[in-house]
Amino acid sequence: MGLKYQDGSLVFGETNFVSLEKIAQKKSDPFYVYDLDGMKSRLHYLKKSFPGISPHYAMKANSADRILKMFAQEGSGVDVVSGGEIRHALKTGFKAKDIIFSGVGKSRTELELAIGEEIKQINVESPQELLRIIAMSKAMNKKPKVAFRINPDVDAKTHPYITTGFRENKFGMGEHFVPELRAILTSNPNTVDLCGLTLHIGSQLQDILPIKDAIQKTLPLFYQFKQEGHQMRTFDVGGGLGIPYNEEHTFPSKDYALLNGYGKMLQEALQGFTGEVLCEPGRILVGSCGVLVGEVQYIKETPFRSFLIVNTGIHHMMRPALYQAYHRILPVRSNDNREQRIYDIVGPICESSDVLGRERTLYEIKPGEHIAIADSGAYGYSMASYYNEHDFPEQFFWENQHLDSDKPMDLKSEKEFQVRNL
Ligand code: LLP
Repeated sequence: MGLKYQDGSLVFGETNFVSLEKIAQKKSDPFYVYDLDGMKSRLHYLKKSFPGISPHYAMKANSADRILKMFAQEGSGVDVVSGGEIRHALKTGFKAKDIIFSGVGKSRTELELAIGEEIKQINVESPQELLRIIAMSKAMNKKPKVAFRINPDVDAKTHPYITTGFRENKFGMGEHFVPELRAILTSNPNTVDLCGLTLHIGSQLQDILPIKDAIQKTLPLFYQFKQEGHQMRTFDVGGGLGIPYNEEHTFPSKDYALLNGYGKMLQEALQGFTGEVLCEPGRILVGSCGVLVGEVQYIKETPFRSFLIVNTGIHHMMRPALYQAYHRILPVRSNDNREQRIYDIVGPICESSDVLGRERTLYEIKPGEHIAIADSGAYGYSMASYYNEHDFPEQFFWENQHLDSDKPMDLKSEKEFQVRNL
């Protein structure tokens, strides 16, 4: 979202807008622009929608330093899935007590880091992982806080690659694991501090009712563990809120309506719950607040298709290739005085899967002109690859009506691009 035309020129933002055309005129290589104010306001809206909730930003969605620093400053915690993410989070201002560590395959080195740093919570995904944590805790003379990730066996109604709470997924632990977990804890008293339960049933959820269902299925287990003498304090409802990729932009963005509905749903589902409610949102906080801009290199007309060949592709935004995901693609200059054409918008990568948008109707575009791939703030840059050895796109951050680049710019290039106060 966050894109609209002003005098035929595409601008990006929510309350304040930056001209993508102005940046594109000075930069022919592909670039991302992020609206930090939009991200901040989503975080605050989430906190308002369910007072007391403790958001832990899922940094896999976008781990640009500027974004992490901003979330840390705004009082968010962080959800990490690797040792690299733990180190990155610590470097960008998160405290160990703000870090939750999820993931099915935590290695010894990663756990050593997490246990040594005494992070807020390790989300355990299997009995063997619990045994590994216990053995390491004994050796390290520590008592880490752990939460059991439950697989509630619900249908999250999303793309199969990003469904995680169904019984056939590798994530979390179904009810049948509970006796084994209990036995492990009983035979290893005082080694770990079981502090809560956690869930994450999938990503890009359009319907939040499966989350409610999952919470309601899991809460009884929380109370059972409590009754059995564990100091249960946290219930982590995961992430997963989707964004409306298919729809035209609206101001204010529909993200806020979803956050509002989410808050209400949580209030209902967690009625009477007195512990700390954690959540791990990624996409909803950043997805609509990013845009990727590329330059058209060539138009290739064949008797069968018209290819718009741009200088960005699946190496910078792999969602369309990986999940058949739809992202709106808009010309940076509207050109609505031209005729409409149907294009396949493709990148330079040597794979036929390198398609950003298939059969898109756009007003005619010419080489040297730019296109914007909307809603690219989540799982865009963070999933970019070095395949074919193209450079990574530069990232610009739009905040308080200032635009800054992620590159340490020397004075010359700063002057050249005049990126501040455009
Ligand atoms: N918590 C856990 C344990 C997760 O695995 C994830 C995402 C999140 C939170 C954040 O989920 P979100 O709120 O962003 O939906 N690359 C895919 C999405 C993969 C999500 C992986 N896990 C995509 O581009 O759609």
